[in-house]
Amino acid sequence: MKRVFSGIQPTGNLHLGNYLGAIKNWVAMQREYDCLYCIVDLHAITVAQEPDELTNNTREVTAGLIAAGLDPKNCIIFNQSRVAAHAELAWILNCFTPLGWLNRMTQFKEKAGKKRESAFLGLYAYPVLMAADILLYHATAVPVGEDQKQHLELSRDIASAFNRAYDVDFFPLPEPMIFGAATRVMSLRDGRNKMSKSDGSDYSRINLTDDADSIALKIKRAKTDSEPGLAHDLERRPEAANLLSIYAALVDEPMERVAAEHSLMGFADFKSKLADLAIETLGPIAARMRELLADPGYIDGVLANGAARARHIADSNLGEVRRIMGLLDA
Ligand code: AMP
Ligand code: TRP
Repeated sequence: MKRVFSGIQPTGNLHLGNYLGAIKNWVAMQREYDCLYCIVDLHAITVAQEPDELTNNTREVTAGLIAAGLDPKNCIIFNQSRVAAHAELAWILNCFTPLGWLNRMTQFKEKAGKKRESAFLGLYAYPVLMAADILLYHATAVPVGEDQKQHLELSRDIASAFNRAYDVDFFPLPEPMIFGAATRVMSLRDGRNKMSKSDGSDYSRINLTDDADSIALKIKRAKTDSEPGLAHDLERRPEAANLLSIYAALVDEPMERVAAEHSLMGFADFKSKLADLAIETLGPIAARMRELLADPGYIDGVLANGAARARHIADSNLGEVRRIMGLLDA
């Protein structure tokens, strides 16, 4: 059966972009495929983390995934640092990754900004760890949002480099699975920036923990333009396009159909319809998340059990890597 792997950082503020770009698709795939979903705490520490917050965020993201519909009986949910093979394979793959490839990564450039010289090696090597995550399980399908496409291409290049170096066909090449009507949800304050966990303004995003009133208020205040009617010239109207694509993803319909259906509607009416829809979808997720978070023992149990199952696959594949490379084992 096709194996699916994807990851999400435990950095707080799970938002609508995470849900529509990734988690919703993960839920849809869990019954059909052999799926592993990883809370990537080793990726999170590429930027400074406060220890208690990291623990809480790991539990919160896990609760969010389960509340959104992932069932630990149908998929493996675990936190990355618990399965040591991720870090070990990442080191090995570092030795097959030319600096030139990493220099092209736009996420590193964005995150390091002008302070490139003082950026940490971990941040630079972030995409190699991501390749290790995927290749460790021989996963071939990787459901992610649009922003991860470049990292996925790099994972393919690294897999090929390893295979070529040893003249083997060991790592299958992973494919990004970027689907749904909202693969890149934009900030509600600026349609040219993506919705992100780290945006300073809480009004830029809808968090999965937001209550109905905050969702309604955030959508009401979302930036718009002054053109009459919302569904025309979308290529030059990022805010209108964003609101329509969020709606389309929530109702699981193509963007074109949603645009056609609302061609005569103004922003105010559309926003109120969108707010009702968002509340209807996210309300039950937030409620379930609160219940789950009241029982951290259950969450910790899910992660421990998931890690044990993941370790089983990971250790066996890493053993093969060591054998291929001639690394002596006991
Ligand atoms: P992160 O929050 O960076 O760990 O991302 C977790 C998953 O959510 C990845 O698959 C991302 O591609 C996806 N994602 C994050 N932000 C967005 C967004 N604004 N729109 C769509 N997908 C997103
Ligand atoms: N880099 C991804 C993000 O920020 C998270 C991630 C880590 C991931 N490892 C992965 C996604 C493996 C897919 C597969 O969104």
